[in-house]
Amino acid sequence: MSIFLGIDIGTSAAKTLAMDTSGRILADAMETYPCYVPKPLWSEQNPEDWWQATIKSVGRVMKKARLKPADVKAIGLSGQMHGSVFLDRRDRVVRRAILWNDQRTAAECREIEERAGGRKALIRMVANPALTGFTAPKILWLRNNEPKKFDRTCKILLPKDEIRRRMTGQYATDVSDASGMLLLDVKKRTWSKKLLSALELDIDLFGECYESEDVTGKLTPQAAAALGLSTDCLVVGGAGDCAAGAVGNGIVNRGVLSTSIGTSGVMFVHSDEVKIDPEGRIHTFCHAVRGKWHMMGVNLSAGGSLQWFRNELCKADMLKAKRAKKEVYDLLIEEARPVRPGSEGLFFLPYLSGERTPHADPDARGCFVGLTLAHTRGHLIRAIMEGVTFSMRDSLEIIEGLGVPVRQIRASGGGSRSPLWRQIQADVFGRSVVTINTTEGAAYGVALLAAVGAGAFKNIQEACKATIRVVKQTSVHRPSKKIYDRAMPVYQQLYRSLKDDFKSIAALEG
Ligand code: XUL
Repeated sequence: MSIFLGIDIGTSAAKTLAMDTSGRILADAMETYPCYVPKPLWSEQNPEDWWQATIKSVGRVMKKARLKPADVKAIGLSGQMHGSVFLDRRDRVVRRAILWNDQRTAAECREIEERAGGRKALIRMVANPALTGFTAPKILWLRNNEPKKFDRTCKILLPKDEIRRRMTGQYATDVSDASGMLLLDVKKRTWSKKLLSALELDIDLFGECYESEDVTGKLTPQAAAALGLSTDCLVVGGAGDCAAGAVGNGIVNRGVLSTSIGTSGVMFVHSDEVKIDPEGRIHTFCHAVRGKWHMMGVNLSAGGSLQWFRNELCKADMLKAKRAKKEVYDLLIEEARPVRPGSEGLFFLPYLSGERTPHADPDARGCFVGLTLAHTRGHLIRAIMEGVTFSMRDSLEIIEGLGVPVRQIRASGGGSRSPLWRQIQADVFGRSVVTINTTEGAAYGVALLAAVGAGAFKNIQEACKATIRVVKQTSVHRPSKKIYDRAMPVYQQLYRSLKDDFKSIAALEG
């Protein structure tokens, strides 16, 4: 039997699944861990928690699917991007890892731009501007703020790559995840010696960079024993969770774009060439497809906006849903359904955690604009769904503006399970959206990469073709599209009008 494991080190949990050569999922399991917020806007985790969750979830999958150690031929690793694990010379962590959604590094982002010779020069070196979430600013933060810990640091790894180190003893990463460190020459797919030297960072601090399907090592005897697997089991490069999720959606060819509405919203498109937004509004990273790239717009509060609304304003509904054994989101979205497209002039700006795409503005704030006495809670819910989708159209417009073709849009993530949200996507984007036969996302994507690395498929395109197919299409409702086409410029203008006010609000908060 040839089985492949996909393991995703997420922000709230590690998820493992076992897949056979036909792409069938035999079992999956999830193990959660805490996230620490020692100060507002800081976000940290303990790498040991990831490892323990990995061991447990692999153990549960092996048991559920009744697998023998020798059945598992290869593992693919995926993980939350941009996080930094700092290791000393004996591979002990010098502090908790700092995560992708941590906002402490504004000063270091400025320092990186200065050292690179300006924002434009930086974008030329690594294809992207310095954003607080990326890894390089975190490294400079450690050097500036915890210099003793920085001096003890001998290796810096991304979350999934720390799990790889514990599995194989290798310091390694893959090109898609490495792109989000802001230290990779994305065009050449190697570390940017130019930027490393401008930042005075030694290249030896980082692992070797592989293509996502390449084998990076085998399990050590200790790791094999801890995981209940064989020392013959291969570990492939894997991918950052966005690229891994895109592979799991079959986004491995020109012209296909995926939308994902989870906590964050991601618009992800495959590209055969490197296309760089000179304004740095969307990310250009290496893809998990050999020799290809992807462009990606990230909205920090997509499903997260509706989650905030549910948590803060719908406590009674949560109890009601629990008693009725229903999903509270289904009840809320039901309330939004009769509301006319455009929410009768009510707009929602989804910038609850600041914003990345297209504004790269940590000071941006969420708001409802246009409230009248006629508006109901259903209007608020619909306005949230529409506002999040407008923010995703912002990314779509930039991507197409760069000349990247988009012929098919695949909707994924928790938000896209709702038929209403899929209809809003089709109508706001002005083209039909499709869904596919799997909803497993990143863990599935890296299981496919593992299968390619172990030789079960010729390449990742072939693996996706054999396992992923379109099952449903949501077509555009023309009258609604017309309404959204008129509303979009108003939505875009609202940020421009409020931008300075957001700065004043942030200054008030100190
Ligand atoms: C991508 C990003 C997030 C994390 C969280 O740039 O920051 O999607 O990868 O999983």
